[in-house]
Amino acid sequence: MKIIVANWKMNPQKGSEAVRLFDSVSKAVLKLKNFNLIFCPPFVWLNSISQKFKKSKNIFLGAQDVFWETKGAFTGEISAGMLKSFGCKYIIVGHSERRWIIGETNQIINKKLAAVLNSGLIPILAVGEKNRDQNFLEFLKNQLEESLGDLSADKIKKIIIAYEPVWAIGTDVPDKPEDTITAVNFIRRFLKEKYGVNNISVLYGGSVNSKNVFEFLKQPEIDGALVGGASLDAKEFTKILKIVS
Ligand code: PGA
Repeated sequence: MKIIVANWKMNPQKGSEAVRLFDSVSKAVLKLKNFNLIFCPPFVWLNSISQKFKKSKNIFLGAQDVFWETKGAFTGEISAGMLKSFGCKYIIVGHSERRWIIGETNQIINKKLAAVLNSGLIPILAVGEKNRDQNFLEFLKNQLEESLGDLSADKIKKIIIAYEPVWAIGTDVPDKPEDTITAVNFIRRFLKEKYGVNNISVLYGGSVNSKNVFEFLKQPEIDGALVGGASLDAKEFTKILKIVS
């Protein structure tokens, strides 16, 4: 079963558009099988979308970020518990836009991962190199090591990893599937050797669209895709999901 994450980022601009997008995609894919679909709208549209959520075996709600504390004086922040109460099951942690635009460090990401896991939700941990040079696997190793910190193997087992090379996000320049496989295998080997964790799901993200999704997802090593831009276009996204199915 492949996993597809729709990361809407700071879109759409109106609640009515968000509900329309959710409605048209979820209706179009109602009868499709072989994937779990996770919608990650902006926080402010979670409420209206969660009200439209019908019980479905393969469609889930997620969030794009979270704060690491459970409550208190943290102006502007949102806790995992609040997101859970809206029906979120998944939370993206460490997306490259948060790392490189907002300035989130691996240490912050580690605290967020712990908070999500403690609340019983599933983190989707995004990692990825800024540049594809000869040190990129070393870069990934360091990002993983610091982001996971001293989380126990039992906790790490629950995490979904999204491998997203930063240079491939929003650029229309996707990775080559064979290079993604190298990175994904490296991530799996590292998690096994360092934490004794097997069978972790690893997704690919970065300029995924209906033209390239098959090439990525036909690889048994790649468990799914995190889709940004293309998930905002109901027609294009439905096409992607049909191909995945
Ligand atoms: P993109 O974004 O599909 O627009 O490249 C991917 C992502 O959010 O990581």
